[in-house]
Amino acid sequence: MRKKVTVVGAGNVGATTAQRIVDKGYADVVLVDVVEGMPQGKALDMLQAGPITGSDASVTGANSYESTANSDVVVITAGIARKPGMSRDDLLMTNMKIVGEVTSQVATRSPKSVLIVVSNPLDAMVQHAYRVSGFPKQRVVGMAGILDTARFRTFLAQELKMSITNVQAYVLGGHGDSMVPLIGSTTAGGVPVSELIPAPRLDEIVKRTQNGGAEIVGLLKTGSAYYAPSAAVEQMVEAVIFDRKAVLPCAALLEGEYGINGLYVGVPVKLGAGGVESVIQVKLTPQEDAALKKSAAAVRELIAIMGKQPA
Ligand code: NAI
Ligand code: 2OP
Repeated sequence: MRKKVTVVGAGNVGATTAQRIVDKGYADVVLVDVVEGMPQGKALDMLQAGPITGSDASVTGANSYESTANSDVVVITAGIARKPGMSRDDLLMTNMKIVGEVTSQVATRSPKSVLIVVSNPLDAMVQHAYRVSGFPKQRVVGMAGILDTARFRTFLAQELKMSITNVQAYVLGGHGDSMVPLIGSTTAGGVPVSELIPAPRLDEIVKRTQNGGAEIVGLLKTGSAYYAPSAAVEQMVEAVIFDRKAVLPCAALLEGEYGINGLYVGVPVKLGAGGVESVIQVKLTPQEDAALKKSAAAVRELIAIMGKQPA
């Protein structure tokens, strides 16, 4: 029997994530949204691609949660997305309410699932979902670091005119302007990038990475990025479903690792059937360590604002 994945929020990121999973065919997908008919219509359209892609996976749309029961993985993309001029943090209160409601619905019906949170502001939303779900920390994880790292690797590969597969990097910290690209451990063809790109140019690439989401919002004007985000989510779903034990940068609850306690922050984790099976501790330079702590402090400020609101 195929595994089952629920994707809540059938907008740009949710629908594209569902499509990627269904096209690969390794899991049946339930797509949920509040807009009547929309998830059903998108699901039917995706299903009808099956004879062309050769996928036998089933995909159904719903406006309620009955059909999501016993999912192995639940992806939460429900919420509002950024518009030009908005920061991810501007979404806090609206998305906190939506993510809270969605989490309690899916956690009741799929109590053994791994929850992958995508809605922004990411680190605060995944922390909220963890609290509302009552799940162990291993089974609640956030997507952002894979996307931020992919953007960084893209810009570096462009700069060096090198295959993307030869550029290795990590972007850690919160999914915000204070995210932390780790220059110290970034290599291209095995050579530290700091030896290949002059420091001022590297600094521009770091800033472009930190501004990567806003750059796309500015171009699209009516929404935010979804092709790379959905590819990142699909990579996480696959890691769980196939128990890949893949080391990927994800938002995980830290309890002392990296000197941070009780907070979801982006760090490398081993992702497998159990969700976050361990947090990988990479060696940071003193500057990177300070930047990670600063980024964590920005996440903590959002958590404090949420703490003043009713759950
Ligand atoms: P979108 O607006 O295209 O889709 C959001 C969907 O959520 C809409 O279809 C809406 O009807 C639905 N929705 C709203 N309330 C709901 C509820 N209570 N239950 C079920 N569905 C509900 O937005 P998009 O582009 O898909 O982005 C989704 C979220 O993901 C946003 O918060 C965005 O900022 C975030 N995001 C996060 C990324 C990350 O790296 N963590 C990357 C890209 C987007
Ligand atoms: C991004 O980074 C909007 O968080 C989303 O594209």
